[in-house]
Amino acid sequence: MNTIKLKPLKLTYGVKEEMNNLRTNLLFSGADIKVVMMTSCISGEGKSETSYNLARSLAELGKKTLLVDTDLRKSALIRVLDNGSVQNGLSHYLSGQSTINDVVNKTNIPGLNIIFAGRLVPNPIELFSKKLFEKTIENLRSVYDYIVIDTPPLGMVVDASVVSRVCDASILVIESGNIKRKFAQRVVNKLKELKCPLLGVALNKVDRKKAGSYYGKQYQKYYGKEEKRKREK
Ligand SMILES: Nc1ncnc2c1ncn2[C@@H]1O[C@H](COP(=O)(O)OP(=O)(O)O)[C@@H](O)[C@H]1O
Ligand SMILES: [Mg+2]
Repeated sequence: MNTIKLKPLKLTYGVKEEMNNLRTNLLFSGADIKVVMMTSCISGEGKSETSYNLARSLAELGKKTLLVDTDLRKSALIRVLDNGSVQNGLSHYLSGQSTINDVVNKTNIPGLNIIFAGRLVPNPIELFSKKLFEKTIENLRSVYDYIVIDTPPLGMVVDASVVSRVCDASILVIESGNIKRKFAQRVVNKLKELKCPLLGVALNKVDRKKAGSYYGKQYQKYYGKEEKRKREK
């Protein structure tokens, strides 16, 4: 297993605070929620950064956490976090070119391990559809307290639906002001169809000046007070 030193990623106070809220939602969701997928409507909304921040935040609490980048089409996570020391990733493993030990990286953050995407491929579905992916996540469940899975956007490609089969719950990242309500609703419905319960919505890239006090409530538990309030209306 490689050990890598992650490039420092600066967290603003607001994001750190909200990441702790998201983490709390997860911790209080019960022991059967272990594998969580991060998705969004389109790319660039901040899934990868949110996945990493959540995984790091869980590790900092002493939870053994694995971050898996399944965005085999367009991943940028490795460029953000690694200085070029990592060679192989998930696509190498799933195509039989690497062992699992070769692709799991220990990091300088105690308790946080990462599997990067590996070489980007044009049709990842074939790799995810193999039993190997499902079996591997199943085995890793006994090694880690939490597995955070970064996926491609659910509103754009079907890879995330295939990946959702191994997940217990999902978190939807929405870029503030950039996604139409109807589009978000479609993705929420899709998650319901996939039977991947929505654990929370992370409203990302909120303009702090415009948002004012709302900023403090960026990450809300989806079926929490907001939902109840709407139902009671
Ligand atoms: N809270 C945020 N505020 C400002 N920029 C952000 C925030 N979260 C992510 N970004 C930036 O947005 C871009 C896309 O983020 P990324 O996590 O790669 O999105 P995705 O994985 O959904 O495609 C990156 O350049 C990232 O640095
Ligand atoms: Mg990404």
